[in-house]
Amino acid sequence: MRSTKITGFFITFEGTEGAGKSTLIREVAKRLELRGIAVTLTREPGGTSVAEKIRKVILEETMDPWTELFLYEAARAEHLAETVRPALSQGRVVLCDRFTDSTLAYQAHARGLSWTKVKALNRAATQGLQPQLTILVDVDPETGLRRARDPNRFEKEGVAFQEKVRAGFLKSRREQPRRWFTIRSESGSPAELAERVVREFLKRRGARHG
Ligand code: TYD
Repeated sequence: MRSTKITGFFITFEGTEGAGKSTLIREVAKRLELRGIAVTLTREPGGTSVAEKIRKVILEETMDPWTELFLYEAARAEHLAETVRPALSQGRVVLCDRFTDSTLAYQAHARGLSWTKVKALNRAATQGLQPQLTILVDVDPETGLRRARDPNRFEKEGVAFQEKVRAGFLKSRREQPRRWFTIRSESGSPAELAERVVREFLKRRGARHG
């Protein structure tokens, strides 16, 4: 077990395709940096050189769902060891585009692997590290698909698949409601949505520091 002291703050962003997650993360990062907060912006699968290579394999090849699951978890273990934990131990705020809830929503809820087994593998890959805050960028799956410009093989599966993924996020949120903060992507401009996320982060960080 690693014993690195975690002093930073870990925020993950989740959502279905075309929710506007990536734009929102960049807007949030910009605002935090303007406040003098050290930010690490990263993503899954990816965020390190090894994990980016695994990402390429996952997104370009078709494979057995269990193989795919283990690759996501392998990329995650590497990402945590090389990027997330070091940043958190330096007191940085880590903003991560997708994390363990994506594995539950995509591999378990949408693709049908066991929710309990995926949760156990998530726990193994993260050694129990959980985000302090998870932003659900929620969008109607049909609107999201219309917006998504760079279709990968997940997006080709259409609205029904996105509905299942969304239901997976909602299930995860029901299991740990306090970790989540939900914003509807159509409810404001990227700048307005980012302001809401920043306010929520400041509130929670304030609460943690007492
Ligand atoms: P990406 O193009 O980054 O999608 P997005 O911009 O919507 O985040 O591709 C990442 C894909 O990987 C996305 O379709 C969701 C999927 N994914 C999983 O299926 N399981 C996971 O654990 C993670 C992290 C991502």
